[in-house]
Amino acid sequence: MVHIDKKQLIDAARKAAGNAYAPYSNYRVGAAVLCEDGRVFTGCNVENASYGLTMCAERTAIFTAAAAGARKFTAVAIHAPHPPAPMPCGACRQVMSEWGTDIVVLVSDHNGSVREFTLAALLPYSFAGLNPDGGGAAADHTSPG
Ligand code: THU
Repeated sequence: MVHIDKKQLIDAARKAAGNAYAPYSNYRVGAAVLCEDGRVFTGCNVENASYGLTMCAERTAIFTAAAAGARKFTAVAIHAPHPPAPMPCGACRQVMSEWGTDIVVLVSDHNGSVREFTLAALLPYSFAGLNPDGGGAAADHTSPG
């Protein structure tokens, strides 16, 4: 299991928030994903004039990591430089859960306080796919906490 340098991961998320494109909400978010192989990928929210097409920072980061071949994620840090704290939305929780819910989620707010969760706690009883044994989601998505 790769060591989680929380400060470094949060710093990467903070830096990524600097690239946020959020002219509609003015709410900038950055995310950094630590992969099991030690690589870190980042993302920011990217909004759109057709509001519903907006992409959250977490999914940008996870999809960037997945597109680089990563499948197992150890931790995700999320930072917003202004209130409220960037608790991941339901869609992002589901996307993060695709390859397992054993992921540490670090939520960093504008005050510098950090809250730590497991994805399993944030997304209990998640949908693990039709064939949990045959690739895709992890086997145990049935218990909370
Ligand atoms: N947003 C994120 O990127 N991540 C979160 O955890 C919360 C919400 C974005 C979506 C949208 O661009 C803006 O924040 C306001 O909802």
